[in-house]
Amino acid sequence: MVRADDGVGLENKGVADVVVVGGGLIGLVTAWRAAQRGLRVVVADPAPGGGAAQVAAGMLAAVTELQYGEQALLKLGIESAARYREFAAELEEATGLGTGYRECGTLAVALDADDRAHLRELHAFQTSLGLAAQWLSGRECRRLEPMLAPGVRGGLRVDGDHQVDPRRLTAALLVAAEAAGVRFLRTKVARIEVAGDRVTGVLLADGTAVAAGATVLAAGSESGRVAGLPARVLPPVRPVKGQILRLRMPEGPASFLSRTVRAVVRGSDVYLVPRENGELVLGATSEERGWDTTVTAGGVYELLRDAHDLVPGITELPLTQTQAGLRPGSPDNAPLLGPAALDGLLLATGHHRNGVLLAPVTGDALAEALTTGELPPYARPFAAHRFAPVRQEQTA
Ligand code: GLY
Repeated sequence: MVRADDGVGLENKGVADVVVVGGGLIGLVTAWRAAQRGLRVVVADPAPGGGAAQVAAGMLAAVTELQYGEQALLKLGIESAARYREFAAELEEATGLGTGYRECGTLAVALDADDRAHLRELHAFQTSLGLAAQWLSGRECRRLEPMLAPGVRGGLRVDGDHQVDPRRLTAALLVAAEAAGVRFLRTKVARIEVAGDRVTGVLLADGTAVAAGATVLAAGSESGRVAGLPARVLPPVRPVKGQILRLRMPEGPASFLSRTVRAVVRGSDVYLVPRENGELVLGATSEERGWDTTVTAGGVYELLRDAHDLVPGITELPLTQTQAGLRPGSPDNAPLLGPAALDGLLLATGHHRNGVLLAPVTGDALAEALTTGELPPYARPFAAHRFAPVRQEQTA
C-alpha cells in the first residue's frame, strides 16, 4: 500500500515507505513491526526512546483498570495482554535485552466500606464479562501481601494483570527497530507536508524533506498540535499529567510486595508496582493542566499519603525519583489507530492510560494497515477517523 515507488534507496535519507513522527514507545513498536514486513521505515524524533514511557509504571492492567462503558477498550487490552509474553520474548531474542515483563498479578484492595462496595460492584461487572477476578477478605489480602495496612477491608485478586518495565521495553525496541533496518533521523519535525488532499511526508527542522508513501503520527500528547495538518485532521489528543514516584525496596520484590497493589483512595487511583530489580513505582496523579510537567509538593504529598494508607511501610523506603509525564488523552480514553482523514496519514496516538499495555496490538495493527490499507478487526472500533467530521461537513 505505502511503498514509495521511486527507485531511490534510503541512503538518500529523503525518501521512505513510512515516516513515523515520534520515537516513543508507540512510534518504535510501529516502526519495528512495519520494518519486519519489509517496509523502509524512518523515525523522526530528536530523542527516540523518550516520551511518556520513561515515566509510566508499566501495569498491564486490562481487568483491574476496567471502567464502565469501556468494554471495547477492555477487549483490545485483553488482546494486547495476551500477546505480551511472546512480544517480550521476541524482543529479548532479537536484542539480548530484557523488558522486565513479569507475570506477577495484581491485587486491588479496599480501605473503607465505600471502597469495598465499589470494588464489589467492579467485581460483579468483571464477572458478568467473564473476567477472572477473585474476591478476597482483608485477612486473605494480608496473607498474600503482609505489608498491607491492617485496615484493608477486602480486595480483588487478578492473576492475569501483569507488569513490564517501560524504560527497558523502550530501550529494547530501539535496538530491535534499528536491527530491523529502521533509520532514525534525530531531528525535530517542523511540519507534516500536505499536497492537495494527501500527506506526502515531513519537513524536518534542519530543512531535510522526507517524502514517504505513508506518514504515521505517533507523537503522544504532542500529536494534537503538530504543524502542517489542517485543523479538521489534527487528532483530538490532549496532555493528561501524571506525577509518579520511584522508591527502592530493601531486598527485591518478595521482601516488600510481591505483586502490583492498587486502590482508589479519596477518589484517586494509587498503585504500587514492585519490580524484580527492587524498584517500587508509586503512581499516579491524573491532572488536566495543559503542558505543565512540574512535580509539585501537593502531588508528591498526595501520592505518599494515599500509598501510606495502603502500605504504611513505604515511608521507610528511600525515595529515588520524582517525575511528571503527559499521557495522550483522547475524548473516549481509547487510542486512534490507522488511516486518518487524509490519504497517506495514519495515526497511532491517544492511548491515554494504556500506551504500555496496548503497545503489542498497536504495532501489529499499524503494520497491517500500512501493508494492506485495512486495520485488523480487533482494532476497527478504534479507527483514527472516528472523531473526524463527516466528509460533507469537511467540504461544506
Ligand atoms: N495506567 C496507569 C496510569 O496511566 O496512571
